[in-house]
Amino acid sequence: MTDSLPLPFDQDSPDEDMMANPYRKNPPSEFDPVDTLDEAEAAEEVERLVEAIDFHDRRYYLDNDPVISDGAYDRLFQRLVDLEEAFPDLQQKNSPTRRVGAEPLDELEEVEHTAPMLSLDAAFEREEIEKFEDFCRRNAVEASTTDFNYFAEPKFDGLSAEVVYENGEFARAATRGNGTVGEDITRNVRTIRTLPMRLNADAPPDLLAVRAEILMPRSGFQEMNKRRIERGEDPFANPRNAAAGTVRQLDPSVVARRPLDIYFYDILRVDGADFSSQTEVRDALDGWGLKLDDHTTYCENVDEIEHFYRSIDEERETLDFEIDGVVVKIDEFDVRRVLGERSRSPRWAIAWKFDPKQEVTVLRDIAVQVGRTGKLTPVAMLDPVEVGGVTVSRASLHNIEELHDKDVRAGDTVRIQRAGDVIPDVVELVDAADPRAEPFEMPARCPVCDTETVREGPLHFCPAGISCTAQLKGHLIHYSSRDAMDIDGLGEETVTDLIEAELVEDIADLYELTPEDFLTLEGFADTSAHNLYESIQGSRSAPLDRFLFALGIRHVGSHVARLLAEAFGTLDDVRHADVDALQATKGIGPEIAQSVRDFFDSPGNNEVVDRLLTLGVEVEPIVGAEADGARPLEDTTFVFTGSLDRFTRSEAQREVEDLGARATSSVSGNTDYLVAGDNAGSKLDEARERGIDILDEEAFVALLQDVST
Ligand code: IVH
Repeated sequence: MTDSLPLPFDQDSPDEDMMANPYRKNPPSEFDPVDTLDEAEAAEEVERLVEAIDFHDRRYYLDNDPVISDGAYDRLFQRLVDLEEAFPDLQQKNSPTRRVGAEPLDELEEVEHTAPMLSLDAAFEREEIEKFEDFCRRNAVEASTTDFNYFAEPKFDGLSAEVVYENGEFARAATRGNGTVGEDITRNVRTIRTLPMRLNADAPPDLLAVRAEILMPRSGFQEMNKRRIERGEDPFANPRNAAAGTVRQLDPSVVARRPLDIYFYDILRVDGADFSSQTEVRDALDGWGLKLDDHTTYCENVDEIEHFYRSIDEERETLDFEIDGVVVKIDEFDVRRVLGERSRSPRWAIAWKFDPKQEVTVLRDIAVQVGRTGKLTPVAMLDPVEVGGVTVSRASLHNIEELHDKDVRAGDTVRIQRAGDVIPDVVELVDAADPRAEPFEMPARCPVCDTETVREGPLHFCPAGISCTAQLKGHLIHYSSRDAMDIDGLGEETVTDLIEAELVEDIADLYELTPEDFLTLEGFADTSAHNLYESIQGSRSAPLDRFLFALGIRHVGSHVARLLAEAFGTLDDVRHADVDALQATKGIGPEIAQSVRDFFDSPGNNEVVDRLLTLGVEVEPIVGAEADGARPLEDTTFVFTGSLDRFTRSEAQREVEDLGARATSSVSGNTDYLVAGDNAGSKLDEARERGIDILDEEAFVALLQDVST
């Protein structure tokens, strides 16, 4: 490595310099009022805030070792928001406040990469690695050293991207595309919190282009899918699809809410520095504050490579991100140079992919499964076959369009594949049976409850909802969830046990359960049985919007439920509204209108709703102000700070907006109320200073109720 460029190994020096920055420690609880600062003072403070927030982001997201409290962090962040609001010219291109998103675009632009992004040759068998090793060893003789190592690391199963820093500042990011030209995803990548906006170096390179993989961690993926299901949206099939769909999103604020992560593994181009090995490259990346994965090792020969390959394969399921093999690279760059590159891939590296986990078998029949949201999925019933150590006898055909595209029919021989945790797929037809069966068609009626199915694009649904037993479990969990009827203590496990014990066949049965019934289930004692009984009994009354939401009608999330409740006022009116009337409601499109109509057209659903009412469930009508669409909070401005128990920030904002108020992000002379939840930040101090009315959550809820009646 040359000494022409101060490399990040002396990373401590910028930290030391900046130790003077007071915002690296706990920030003051009060700041000088924004309007007492002149532009120069504000500029200086913005600089300090940005530097400190970057520092705290690094401690929190990369080192998992925060040095200040969340509340203190929020205060710093809010201070920056306030300063940028008062002095808009001072907002930096890479300000932390820009990481929450930007205006949506119509399309992504094309960008040329700083250097071509090569691909890797793939190997599947040990013999191919032996060939690679043999080739490297023979050719390395020409290099100054024959003593070299293989550096082995996981092959991330995400999206490859180029990330560019100019003078240490994050400048842009692009997808791999065709290797030369990719798509500009700068605004989306900016929202990834583990990505530093500024390199940790006092004299960063003029230009640094690094190669990274963008992933969605499994944990975040599961959590996100759960929320999607709860909101009545379709879940993503796997983390890779979710990451791919997210990275190319046109609306960065959507991206900001999705749990992406980024790992770096290579330098595409760096001006003014020279590295002599992968090891040095990694040290540099690490020093600059770019995130690396540590499941790496050095190998000297094929046996060691194979050992690593097998152990990572075993460990695979325990990693928080998906990998599809290992990458083996020669560590020493002088050896790499001797070996050179092919047109698309280097000769000094190879990807050893894990078993594709594909197998060929006979498809005996096609069954139809009804999921918990009522979606009908065609499922291939297979001659059992072992795929990657697991016996598979069923595989998904997803929907009728995919099934017809692949044109697989009963009796055909098909290729199936198992990828990650997800259920196996039918990949393609291998051999058609002779004579062939008729093409498969989806049933006109739900195979579980016999209700006529409905089609939406390529998908079929059973609209019976709560009266279809296949959907019961999901519906019971949804019905009792916090934003629905809020039945404390009725979790997934108890719901499963209740269904298995045949104690409930629909939602209404919940209200006929006795403490004795719970005592027959595992894990219940007198007190817990009694408590659950009480919380079910206590859930008998709910405002119309919550009740509508609780019914789990397709496309009716809590927001739509509220719109319906406000427009129609009573359950009876919603129930009997025709599609036109439903569609005439603000925010309700044809798809939702039809879904509501379908739900209430089903005799089974009506029966359950009637029984709920007979068993004493009281649905409170929405009357007066709300129903009239009146705006009792017109000309009132709210600011929210800290976290509330009963609402997310956006739900709370919507509540007040629905009543005609405005919700803004910072406290000013126009603010009427500050709603302060837990860990309220600097806005609280500011509101106190200005003598603004401060509401805690309880007072806020009371105010909402007050103005709504
Ligand atoms: S090194 C010169 N290391 O796999 C090629 N690539 O099949 C440098 N990938 O497009 C690539 N994990 O996006 C390298 N640890 C890793 C990787 C990795 C995933 C991707 C990379 C490339 C693809 C090649």
